[in-house]
Amino acid sequence: MDPCPPPDPNQRGIGLSVRGLCKSYDGHPVLEDINFEVRPGELFVIMGPSGSGKTVLLKHLIGLEQPDAGQICVGGVPVGSPEMLDRHRVAMVFQSGALLNSLTVGENVGLYLSEHRLKPPEEIRRIVAEKLALVGLKDVEDKMPSELSGGMRKRAALARALVMDPQLILYDEPTSELDPLIAVTIGEEILRLNRRMGVTSVVVTHERELAFGIAHRMAILFQGRLLALGTPEEVRASPHPEVQRFLQAGFHFDSPSEANQGAPHHEKHP
Ligand SMILES: Nc1ncnc2c1ncn2[C@@H]1O[C@H](COP(=O)(O)OP(=O)(O)OP(=O)(O)O)[C@@H](O)[C@H]1O
Ligand SMILES: [Mg+2]
Repeated sequence: MDPCPPPDPNQRGIGLSVRGLCKSYDGHPVLEDINFEVRPGELFVIMGPSGSGKTVLLKHLIGLEQPDAGQICVGGVPVGSPEMLDRHRVAMVFQSGALLNSLTVGENVGLYLSEHRLKPPEEIRRIVAEKLALVGLKDVEDKMPSELSGGMRKRAALARALVMDPQLILYDEPTSELDPLIAVTIGEEILRLNRRMGVTSVVVTHERELAFGIAHRMAILFQGRLLALGTPEEVRASPHPEVQRFLQAGFHFDSPSEANQGAPHHEKHP
């Protein structure tokens, strides 16, 4: 089997595949034999307890960490390869926001366009204001990141990802630390980008209501291993006791997920 199957030219979003991914730090295994695929246009959710390796996994998906073993392909080419950087636009919204403290919020959000000289400054300013408005931020362009609240920094980081017009977005806890109304708005924006714009999305979240509300498919990571992988219904039906414990801890879900009503049309993808 081709480890990096070519992307579907009819899809805007690009897929990814992870095969046999292993990673240890100082001899301590953090990811062990991880295997899954995210199909073009899919919204894939990764859940798991704190410290289970979710952020480390996302960093591998964008090439910020190198696996000890295994292979990761993004849009049909190895992650981090010159071809990937050339052909594909992949954005990550970091758990902490990860804005550069030496730049204004506006400069941070427009960084991709200014760094690559993709648009004239006037146009960049317009796009930055538009994306900031989309995530509910106004008149913050000239502030420094340290002047924003945690939630505002998070939304600015999402705006920075949107500016890239990405084909694949990786979100690390996009709604944690946000007040409930803003969390709903961000959840809706994630859905809009995926369903309407066809952006492939990988969302790491602790928030089970969000996860079951938006996922086409999901995975549960536990102590560096994928314990369950499938549609929300399949994951909910997992016989694995750790999965059941994780899904039931403190929350009850009595409405069946409607996430698959908007599933992408390529279920036959291998
Ligand atoms: N650069 C690193 N060096 C050493 N250990 C690391 C490094 N990055 C992560 N780890 C360890 O890997 C494990 C998984 O961390 P990770 O940040 O992926 O957890 P997580 O699932 O994202 O947790 P949370 O839900 O709290 O964000 C932790 O034990 C962490 O200490
Ligand atoms: Mg994390």
